[in-house]
Amino acid sequence: MEQMRAMKISGGAAGPTDIPRPVPGKGEVSVKVIASAVNAAEEKIMGGEFAGRFLHAKSSPLVLGWDFAGVVDLVGNGVSDLKPGTPVWGHLPYSGSTKQGTYAEYITILREQVAIKPDNVPFHVAAAAATVAMTSLQSLRDMGRLREGGTALIIGAAGGVGSIAVGIARRLGAKVTAICSTKDVERVKTYGADEIIDRKKTNPFDTPSKFDVIFDTPAVHSFSRWAHRLENGGTYVTTLPDLGLLTGMIRAFFSSKRCKFVQVASKRKDLELVGEWLSDGMVVPIDSRYKVSDLSSALKRQTDPARSGRVVVDVENGWGG
Ligand SMILES: NC(=O)c1ccc[n+]([C@@H]2O[C@H](COP(=O)([O-])OP(=O)(O)OC[C@H]3O[C@@H](n4cnc5c(N)ncnc54)[C@H](OP(=O)(O)O)[C@@H]3O)[C@@H](O)[C@H]2O)c1
Repeated sequence: MEQMRAMKISGGAAGPTDIPRPVPGKGEVSVKVIASAVNAAEEKIMGGEFAGRFLHAKSSPLVLGWDFAGVVDLVGNGVSDLKPGTPVWGHLPYSGSTKQGTYAEYITILREQVAIKPDNVPFHVAAAAATVAMTSLQSLRDMGRLREGGTALIIGAAGGVGSIAVGIARRLGAKVTAICSTKDVERVKTYGADEIIDRKKTNPFDTPSKFDVIFDTPAVHSFSRWAHRLENGGTYVTTLPDLGLLTGMIRAFFSSKRCKFVQVASKRKDLELVGEWLSDGMVVPIDSRYKVSDLSSALKRQTDPARSGRVVVDVENGWGG
């Protein structure tokens, strides 16, 4: 069986290993990974959090990483719309049955879970955008039913999901209020927020405004705490399925408001739409870039409070000597 290079996680650190190179099955393509990016999911798995069991199969050796941009390498039976050499992007499924990771030379993925990368969007930018953009689009448009002329409140607007959520809400035609810390106020303004609430100076719950969608990207609040700031028919969307979500859904059932949880999925049509926006200048803040051989440093940077954007991992040219 042909082998490939990958970075395995063991004892909290990342190190190189050789593993079998995956072969695309029916309806799948194999992608040579050029760039990836770190998400909160790695920390949840490495930290042994309960949520980790729904994100990856945690197979051995443990190879993580979900985001990717790269080129199609091989196509499986039944794939006629993608050819070897086509630049593509997307993310692997966040699922307890995912056994592979993008901190490796090659991955395989269903054809409908990838899209062609626009020429003027660099590989590392597409990789940095994949998960956070899909999460934001699906939260705001699908869960939140945000439409042209609507209003959105983005909690955690300086974070990976939150920062691109500001740009996506604007592209959906909404007026955006963003909550962030003092250190990030100037940065968040550049993403296009109409109003900013500095959570270190003001109590966010004191805002007099009401919103069509409240997107709690770090899942630190709850429907119950925000219901009074939702318009009738408005939706609170969270990223974590916790007790607050369950309570919120029960309360929402007896009200005119909605409480939803997003479960991100890599979908071709959504990637194509976001690809157009990225091509047109929508910002994905990038904090830093690391070679895949230095994955331990990239994972450490992800948890650094000074991080201001996405941590990119260069895979194709990142294996060192
Ligand atoms: N369900 C899904 O499909 C899905 C998909 C993607 C991500 N997620 C989850 O979404 C969460 C966020 O991911 P991320 O990549 O955006 O993380 P991130 O980059 O670490 O950003 C989190 C942001 O939340 C802010 N924050 C922290 N505590 C806060 C509080 N009490 N009030 C207001 N803001 C607060 C932080 O800013 P400060 O500097 O102000 O603290 C930070 O900007 C993670 O738990 C991740 O696992 C879920």
